[in-house]
Amino acid sequence: MEIKKVGVVGLGIMGSGIVEVCIRSGYPTVISEINQGLLDKGMNAIKSSMERAVKKGKLSEQDQNAALGRLTATLKTEDFSGCDLVIEVIIENMEIKKKLFTDMDKICPPHTILASNTSCLSVLEMASVTKRVPQVVGLHFFNPVPVMRLIEIVRTIATSEETIETVKSFGQSLDKTLVIAQDAPGFIVNRLLIPYLLDAIHMIEIGAATKEDIDRGMELGCNHPMGPLTLADFIGLDTIYFIANAMYEEFKDPKYASPVLLKKMVTIGNLGRKSGKGFYDYKK
Ligand code: 3HC
Repeated sequence: MEIKKVGVVGLGIMGSGIVEVCIRSGYPTVISEINQGLLDKGMNAIKSSMERAVKKGKLSEQDQNAALGRLTATLKTEDFSGCDLVIEVIIENMEIKKKLFTDMDKICPPHTILASNTSCLSVLEMASVTKRVPQVVGLHFFNPVPVMRLIEIVRTIATSEETIETVKSFGQSLDKTLVIAQDAPGFIVNRLLIPYLLDAIHMIEIGAATKEDIDRGMELGCNHPMGPLTLADFIGLDTIYFIANAMYEEFKDPKYASPVLLKKMVTIGNLGRKSGKGFYDYKK
């Protein structure tokens, strides 16, 4: 099956990035949020990201206008009825996701593939509320979506081969490279990345080195674009805490246990870049 029209539900940082790559790759895309304020905010994020690309000479104004012309913004779930693929990028809450999958399953035609950008929740559990279990799959993008080249395809025990092939072609058409992971918390990348970030936070806790030196060590010693504490702030400490807890819950392996310092920072709202403060101060 060929994907001709896409739907994206949820326009946070990841959702708006996914929409940008879809419309820039030529896909008419229906987008929605839970209220008009968040819909407008998401639209503005998409526009300003493309404006930056125009200013840098990476996108022509004509192509920017054509891409924006492919957007249909809506608050009505019914408007997703013409989509061949719907990607949910909403809050990481299983009950809310299941409600969305139930609604989309009723509204979308039988051929539509339903995908989740979840970073750690069970895609199979989301699929279980639909009548199209073989057509439910994970499509896990990375932040910042327009820059990062990878998409993880998450295959449940019931995802059909046709669904995998269709989303693979779709991902390639966005100029991304695809890898396939089983439906277990963390998939491939977060399963390796999260323990590394937790270890870096633990090193701060025990005073093994300063945050600056830990970051510099990994940037210059391993050629990483960001050190682990800068990256943790970039991803969001609440997100890391949530993923770590989900992985610990599933695997009961201490390597996924959150350091106390991470829990404390999340408790006081020091979530990284998005809150203005994490391991570093972004208010300046
Ligand atoms: N949107 C679009 N383009 C962006 C961007 C954004 N938000 N942020 C940066 N860019 C582009 C810039 O325009 C620039 O493009 P150019 O070289 O063609 O001019 C290029 O990326 C490099 O940007 P900068 O020069 O401003 O800054 P850096 O060189 O420091 O790069 C970075 C920024 C790309 C974010 C780089 O630091 C990086 O790759 N960091 C690691 C990111 C990472 O690991 N992401 C994965 C997180 S894990 C995840 O998402 C999974 C989830 O489940 C937790």
